Amino acid sequence: MKPLHAEKPAAAALSLYVETYGCQMNEYDSGLVCSILGEEGFDSVPTPEQAGVILLNTCAIREKAHEKVFNRLSALAHLKRRNPGTVIGVLGCMAQNLGDDLFAMGLPVDFMLGPDNYRELPRVIQNIRSGAEAGISITQLSRSETYADLAPRVVSGCLAFVTIMRGCDNFCSFCVVPYTRGRERSRSVESIVSEVNDLVESAGVKEVTLLGQNVNSFRFEGLYFVDLIRSILRETSIERIRFTSPHPHDFPEELMELMAAEPRFCSHVHLPLQSGSSAVLERMRRDYTREDYLRLLRTMRNMVPDLGVSTDIIVGFCGESEAEFEETLSLVEEARYDMAFMFRYSERELTYARKNLPDDVAEPVKLQRLERLIEVQTRISQAKNADLVGKSYAVLVEGRSRRSALELMSRTASNKVVIFPVPEGESPEACMGRTFEVVITGSSAATLRGELRQPVGAARD
Ligand code: SAH
Ligand code: SF4
Ligand code: F3S
Repeated sequence: MKPLHAEKPAAAALSLYVETYGCQMNEYDSGLVCSILGEEGFDSVPTPEQAGVILLNTCAIREKAHEKVFNRLSALAHLKRRNPGTVIGVLGCMAQNLGDDLFAMGLPVDFMLGPDNYRELPRVIQNIRSGAEAGISITQLSRSETYADLAPRVVSGCLAFVTIMRGCDNFCSFCVVPYTRGRERSRSVESIVSEVNDLVESAGVKEVTLLGQNVNSFRFEGLYFVDLIRSILRETSIERIRFTSPHPHDFPEELMELMAAEPRFCSHVHLPLQSGSSAVLERMRRDYTREDYLRLLRTMRNMVPDLGVSTDIIVGFCGESEAEFEETLSLVEEARYDMAFMFRYSERELTYARKNLPDDVAEPVKLQRLERLIEVQTRISQAKNADLVGKSYAVLVEGRSRRSALELMSRTASNKVVIFPVPEGESPEACMGRTFEVVITGSSAATLRGELRQPVGAARD
């Protein structure tokens, strides 16, 4: 969408500002929202001050996610006071989760739409503006909506996201997602392949990340997730494919065979653990034990050389004893993840745990366990990265380094960030989206440093 020029006041009503919270699926949904409203003539603007319509696409995964949005809405109230015609809408998981309750909080909100109701946006905005309706809340979950006909082009440089399935049927006892996103449903293979082709051909995208809360449950007319990957490899020229997140139960080994055989299918798996204690995993309703998880991890690493592995872990879940927490620490020592997202348990409305299990680990204990876990994982990340010094990798350049204009930020197939100097005779811009061969010369817990060995695929550009 083109930026709106401030000197065109007549167009202000059609100026749109969207702010996104939460996961990559929400990023993708904000893209859907922009394309739905783009069809109606809306243009995106970079700040809420310039916008006639302000949308917050929200998350409900932890208590903090809600707090952030309440604070943001309070901060936006002055815009509505200054210009009462400004329309403010709350979208996404928090809208689905809170529904009408949000109106009772005295916040400047005109409407709320849940994740399956974005096609209603043009009508809702129009009705609010005409005064035909006020305080609209539509949070109808759908069993079929996949927005498959919209190709929102959610692109950042040479990278893009594509949502391949929506919803989740796993009902882990701590998690609000099945209630905010509804039942699982997958898009057609054809619509996904055509979106990837469009991203490659029209937006110059080199790497696509396939998104779903539970990607290995992808199923469309008898085709499985691995069939989808094969179709994308066969029918598009995308250079790199990633995905997130799979669930450790029913993990298809065939997928790892394909990853081992196909360099375009990146050798990285984000495999959420949640807890290293089988008793806690049972209370979490995760459907696997500590031993199952470790066995799966060993199989994956045996099948795919140089596999990058990351995870999600929750500490302080209902009834977690010190001994159970220590099982998480020992699993983390054994698994040697490259990276982990680590959280304190936060009780969520509607979940099984909220209804049936007391949130009985004291907040200071949760915090202290989180710190201990982070310490262990940071030490492991540091040691694993240090082991890579001297090795060579093909890296895709995603942008400039944040620290220096003379350095580039790139990534290995296994998802390691590598910073290296702009090659002599090249501009940073000319390097974006290109693959280079680098040798690793230094490391920290979060990044690697490298030096150019030789450009790969330079002739393509
Ligand atoms: N579908 C993904 C998870 C998406 S939510 C999966 O199954 O792996 C991302 C992460 O948030 C989860 O993996 C979990 O670690 C964390 N999370 C979810 N609910 C939480 C809660 N109530 N409190 C704290 N962390 C939570
Ligand atoms: Fe939540 Fe579990 Fe579904 Fe992941 S798999 S979204 S943690 S219910
Ligand atoms: Fe948050 Fe909803 Fe994603 S709860 S993590 S935005 S699916």
